[in-house]
Amino acid sequence: MPNDDSRLANLLHETRLFPPSESFRKDANFNDDSVYDRAQQDPEGFWSEQAQHLSWFTPFENVLSWEPPHAKWFEGGKLNVTYNCVDRHRQGPRKNKAAIMWEGEPGDSRVFTYDMLGREVDRAAHMLQSLGVQRGDRVTIYLPMIPELPISLLACAKIGAIHSVVFGGFSSKALRERIIDADAKLLITADAGWRRGALIPLKANADEAVVDTPTETVVVVQRVGEKAGVTMQAGRDVYWHEAMAKAPSAPFPAAEMDAEDILFLLYTSGTTGKPKGIVHTTGGYLTVANTSVRSVFDMKDDDVFFCTADIGWVTGHTYIVYGPLSAGATVVMYEGSPDFPGRDRFWDIVEKYGVSILYTAPTSIRTFMKWGAQYPKAHNLSSLRLLGTVGEPINPEAWMWYHEHIGHGRCPIVDTWWQTETGAAMIAPLPGLTATKPGSATRPVPGIDADVVDENGQSVAPGNGGYLVIRKPWPSMLRTIWGDDERFRKTYYGKFDGIYLPGDGAHKDADGYVWILGRIDDVINVSGHRIGTMEVESALVSHHMVAEAAVIGRSHDIKGQAITAFVTVKEGIATGESLVAELKQHVAESIGAMARPEEIIFTAELPKTRSGKIMRRLLRDIAEGRVLGDTTTLADPSVVESLKAQYRESE
Ligand code: WT7
Repeated sequence: MPNDDSRLANLLHETRLFPPSESFRKDANFNDDSVYDRAQQDPEGFWSEQAQHLSWFTPFENVLSWEPPHAKWFEGGKLNVTYNCVDRHRQGPRKNKAAIMWEGEPGDSRVFTYDMLGREVDRAAHMLQSLGVQRGDRVTIYLPMIPELPISLLACAKIGAIHSVVFGGFSSKALRERIIDADAKLLITADAGWRRGALIPLKANADEAVVDTPTETVVVVQRVGEKAGVTMQAGRDVYWHEAMAKAPSAPFPAAEMDAEDILFLLYTSGTTGKPKGIVHTTGGYLTVANTSVRSVFDMKDDDVFFCTADIGWVTGHTYIVYGPLSAGATVVMYEGSPDFPGRDRFWDIVEKYGVSILYTAPTSIRTFMKWGAQYPKAHNLSSLRLLGTVGEPINPEAWMWYHEHIGHGRCPIVDTWWQTETGAAMIAPLPGLTATKPGSATRPVPGIDADVVDENGQSVAPGNGGYLVIRKPWPSMLRTIWGDDERFRKTYYGKFDGIYLPGDGAHKDADGYVWILGRIDDVINVSGHRIGTMEVESALVSHHMVAEAAVIGRSHDIKGQAITAFVTVKEGIATGESLVAELKQHVAESIGAMARPEEIIFTAELPKTRSGKIMRRLLRDIAEGRVLGDTTTLADPSVVESLKAQYRESE
């Protein structure tokens, strides 16, 4: 069960309640409470109704076929995601409406209307096709947050090719692993990316990554130019702008995809060292993404939606690209860091573009709190009407700060619980209907049968905790893990028969509200980034001086969790500050900077149970200072021995 007792203790004292204002309720897209009951009584009917918000070339015949753990939604239906996200809007009054308002980190900006976006996407689809990309092929995308990123996604979807976006913060090794797993024939990258005025060498990473892989072609967007100093490999590398110039400007016919054809893969961390390629399909994913922006985000035609996530994560897929664009919305996309050039960059963007809906992560909110309210205060934020959070549990203090200093007491906050695997928000308030409580994601959205259950899969009574589950299948659920259906079955359907297990612990309060407590598996959530302890451990033991490593997540004021690594070095190796620095760097190079351990503690041995299991709870207590005041070294084996004795019974 979840170990975050302190969070639970805090939350149980939380009694504040924020009902929607009458004016918000009145105008909300979802303002009739009966939707919950209707969807619960007939989820298939509900989702089939929501699917009518999409344009289908051929209507579906069968809403759901469910052979646990395999679901098929909207069988017989044919559609194209890009047609839904772009082309259909070009034919009506949204033709010249802004689809994407992009802000570059150095201050450059570009605006794409739906019509302009459509032309770029069509040209990119022609380009990819001429480079050999066909329906069903995998394309890896390793780009900074520039317009070519959503354009690439939409171009793949128009062809019916499967995209696999790898976050630009991942190392060349991580990129390579994902290219090989997906068997991707083409990679789209950039010469470099901007981050706080410095360069991220994406092309150099890509060069290392693609050697001896199935990737034969690398398309390179020139984001930075000469300064990036890239070398192009003849016969393999092509510049985006050159290939685009050669591509025809004619419309690209949208591939008529089956509802169950794969739209994308997105890799995420699990309990083993190997990342999982989460498989999402066309009709179901788009239906829930689209429903979610209309319901949870109450999206209207005049809204300006700013989701601060990177498209390298699922949040960006669903709430920068597919959800909002399928609904014909205007999104703001920002390339860089929130503190560049100043700590008011987000607030400057909100003011400049008239952002009405802001969606960000608790870790960012806590950072803004630390920086101080003077930064948002210096800007006119009156365009905001709705706020959202995602990625990790939000502490009530951060919720209240967001409510007061960003929302000025006026904007509902939607705390949205979901995962890469679920495709879109599963537990979240509907802002016109749900009274919110600071720190609770409230209740499942209509059509989602989520609950908190005990060890036997029985629903817990209000006031109790247990495993978060989703009982019934839903349209945007992952279909499998790419190339490993057995792992899919075991990971998500191995514990309870036919019931989805997300891997989070949760508490259900007296009103039936859900309070997410955090992961119950060996997954760490650092600033909303999901990192497997095994991945970091494998990276550490791949260093020639390391004998053994154990990695845990300890609580951290800003990041939510931080990585602490306990390391045993090989015989005769001297430990010290320089080795600490070297190992941290080694992990960053193996996985990416987000996986760099906060601290490394050398120990003569790792505390293990008799059966050889690492005693993670003991390590967490040590890292959080509950035992051994000074955590700098654990070298004395007798210390570990006595600690083990103390913990043996409870482990
Ligand atoms: C894990 C999923 C889904 C977008 C970003 C993360 C944690 C996510 C919340 C929330 C408490 C949350 C869970 C979940 N999480 N949102 N609102 N409250 N915890 O996607 O990388 O697949 O991670 O993030 O632990 O399982 P992801």
